[in-house]
Amino acid sequence: MAIREIIILPDKQLRLVSKPVDRVTSEVRKLADDMLETMYDAPGIGLAAIQIAVPLRLITMDLAKRDDDETSVARPRVFINPEIVSKSDELSVYEEGCLSIPEYYEAVERPAKVRFRFLDLDGKTREEDAEGLFATCIQHEIDHLNGVLFVDYLSKLKRDRVMKKFTKFARRAAE
Ligand code: NI
Repeated sequence: MAIREIIILPDKQLRLVSKPVDRVTSEVRKLADDMLETMYDAPGIGLAAIQIAVPLRLITMDLAKRDDDETSVARPRVFINPEIVSKSDELSVYEEGCLSIPEYYEAVERPAKVRFRFLDLDGKTREEDAEGLFATCIQHEIDHLNGVLFVDYLSKLKRDRVMKKFTKFARRAAE
């Protein structure tokens, strides 16, 4: 396993539409391992492959392990080619953040429940229901696979402000 570098806004790769995984090979499993290690190290609760500059439809997640609670047990999840099958009319609001937009949090409204389909690490098709933080997280990560970021749901004013801030950071870091 290896920790990979997470790309940060305004990196244009974050806007790419990721390609489906054809077959769950040992390379795909290795990529998932690297993503989990990178996600735990950050630390974060979800990561899409494009965030380590790999444009494949692969997501890792762990909503159980909390870095503020040493007794919590890791429950790593890997979702390959995930897609939403259905969503509730009911909405819920969560304060979202993103490892590619560090230290920035805003409330986003999304369907409160979703059913989604994916391939597991054995290449088997599965379906699962998600609600609460799980529903928000799976929608946030699937958005990444389509080049969509949570800041896209904010008002133009807020989005312009955060884009400008991160563009300035990047310019300063490059100097
Ligand atoms: Ni994100």
